[in-house]
Amino acid sequence: MKYRCVRCGRTAPSFEGFQCGCGGLVEVEHRFIEVSRETFDRRLGCTEEPYNSGVWRYKELIHPEIGAEQVVTRPEGNTNLYVRGGVSEYTGIRRLTMKHEGENPTGSFKDRGMTVAVSEALRAGAETVVCASTGNTSASVAAYAAQAGLRSVVFVPAGEIALGKLAQALAYGARVIQVKGYFDDAMRLVREASRQLNLYVLNSLNPWRIEGQKSIVFEALQQMRWIPPDWIVVPAGNLGNTSAFGKALKELGQLGLLERMPRIAAVQAEGANPFYRLWKDKGGRLEPVNPSTVASAIKIGDPVSWEKALDAVGLTGGTVEQVSDSEILEAKAVVDATGVGCEPASAASVAGAKKLAEAGVIGPDEEVLCVLTGNILKDTETTIRYHSGGFSSAGRMNRPVTVDADLGSIEKALRSPT
Ligand code: F0G
Repeated sequence: MKYRCVRCGRTAPSFEGFQCGCGGLVEVEHRFIEVSRETFDRRLGCTEEPYNSGVWRYKELIHPEIGAEQVVTRPEGNTNLYVRGGVSEYTGIRRLTMKHEGENPTGSFKDRGMTVAVSEALRAGAETVVCASTGNTSASVAAYAAQAGLRSVVFVPAGEIALGKLAQALAYGARVIQVKGYFDDAMRLVREASRQLNLYVLNSLNPWRIEGQKSIVFEALQQMRWIPPDWIVVPAGNLGNTSAFGKALKELGQLGLLERMPRIAAVQAEGANPFYRLWKDKGGRLEPVNPSTVASAIKIGDPVSWEKALDAVGLTGGTVEQVSDSEILEAKAVVDATGVGCEPASAASVAGAKKLAEAGVIGPDEEVLCVLTGNILKDTETTIRYHSGGFSSAGRMNRPVTVDADLGSIEKALRSPT
């Protein structure tokens, strides 16, 4: 195993930092042993740690070298696929499947990267771990650090993260620093603080996070009997997932485990769309923006992994789309009303799939996998605001009604339209 700079290609046998001297990010380059789908299929339903995890089931593809006893796992992954008529109808995509990463231990996909990066932090002798976060990473860092006996510090944009996530970080015992600024300010401070205060960084610029998040693709393909969909659609913020998906597909291809290459569609919020702009401008350098979106998880103006993500989308012949806040909220209301439910940022994948289908980029008979990244209970404020008429457009509003405590009032309430 070695570390390789994605910009200049320089390799190093041991870890020297997340960023190469040239400014590029570093990735993990494995020397894979031969591995077959049967190995992974055999582990399905296994109860033994860490192979009962939907991350460590693919250990040979994620971290072949770590000892099983060194792994910090909940276990994570093993998230379900959902097909819902309401979502197919809404998007105009007949064959649409959702993979619900909100079913992870702390309620988001972040746990898949965290199990690997926290295990690696322990191996590196770290005592204090740190991250910047729009909320979900901080919840995951706090939980895994608690389990591993590490101290955790999380930097979040003050007043900008959903309360479910803040509650988790506090409850799991992280030191929560609320930075007056955007996520991007918190991220910059983490980079500076980690160097000066010797803190181990658990953001997705840590290449081990990316290794763990590859397992979303591995697990989805295994659940689909190793027959890839035509498209994998994913919400895009700091661009760790987009990068991880590209790396997963590239490596499966190299190992002869991929029938054909699915295309990645990364979906940004219109008000936090620097990667979409970069894609439309056909490359060059990412120009940061001041982000603004109701989907606080992806309210990011200067994503760290844009170079890796650009390679990922390019490699798969994919695309980048943007969706407005009202498109996100409507898509969320549709997903929620099927009983599946997700947090706002997650619904960007469904909203993006709809938009791409309407534009003819996704064909009517193509098979689409939308990743739902976070649990519906993470951001109850936005859901309640939507259903209480707090947004100017809310076509699927389900307004609560308050009645006097008598049967007559209840009858009246049940008779009147919502
Ligand atoms: N969806 C959710 C629910 C998220 O929490 C995030 C990122 C994303 C999508 C975007 O994924 O960054 O890999 O492109 N949340 C980070 C956090 C930034 O701090 O929790 P990405």
